[in-house]
Amino acid sequence: MLIAVDGPLASGKGTIARALSAKFGLPHLDTGTLYRAVAVAVLDAGNDPADAGAAEAAARDLDPASIDEAKIRTAGAGAAASIVSAHPKVRAALKEVQQEFARQPGGAVLDGRDIGTVIAPDADVKLFVTASAEVRASRRWSELVGRGENVSLEQIMSQLAERDGRDASRPDAPLLKADDAVELDTTDMDEGEAIRAAIAIVEGRTAR
Ligand code: DC
Repeated sequence: MLIAVDGPLASGKGTIARALSAKFGLPHLDTGTLYRAVAVAVLDAGNDPADAGAAEAAARDLDPASIDEAKIRTAGAGAAASIVSAHPKVRAALKEVQQEFARQPGGAVLDGRDIGTVIAPDADVKLFVTASAEVRASRRWSELVGRGENVSLEQIMSQLAERDGRDASRPDAPLLKADDAVELDTTDMDEGEAIRAAIAIVEGRTAR
């Protein structure tokens, strides 16, 4: 069973994808980590994330097994990831890695922005997870503050609006709900409710 989970920043898609992976015993790939790792490699090399050539080289050289989780989770890495992810050649280089992961015999769960539309258009179940901008900003703020970052909610609100705009407006594989995806709005749900709703959708889709 191949499950695609897409949605904007801090919509809850990562939590949902991890829970589905555990529930159905499927390997999980958070595809945002790939874009974040490319961004960190570009920054570490002293290059500009807007430089398509530097970003493409970093994407080609990426070793998914050696991604440093702590380094890629910062707000700076996320902002740079949103910039490198707009380069079509970066997306093409990372597409192969993601499709190979999706081809595992027993299936998989992938979460990102374009899984249901570009990476795995034939996925058995597609979820499009959303939440209001206010709720997403406050979730991301708590997460970053919990990790010791010194950011204000206002900063997060404006970064979120900027990244939403960039992710949704890039010409190559913008954030878009696939026609056959089920939308799950987690604005008024806590983590447990969102997970239960997602499991119910997967079970409903695969029972048919
Ligand atoms: O989900 P995230 O915050 O870790 O993603 C970081 C950036 O990577 C996001 O701003 C857009 C990009 N991304 C993408 O373009 N396509 C994906 N499948 C996943 C992430």
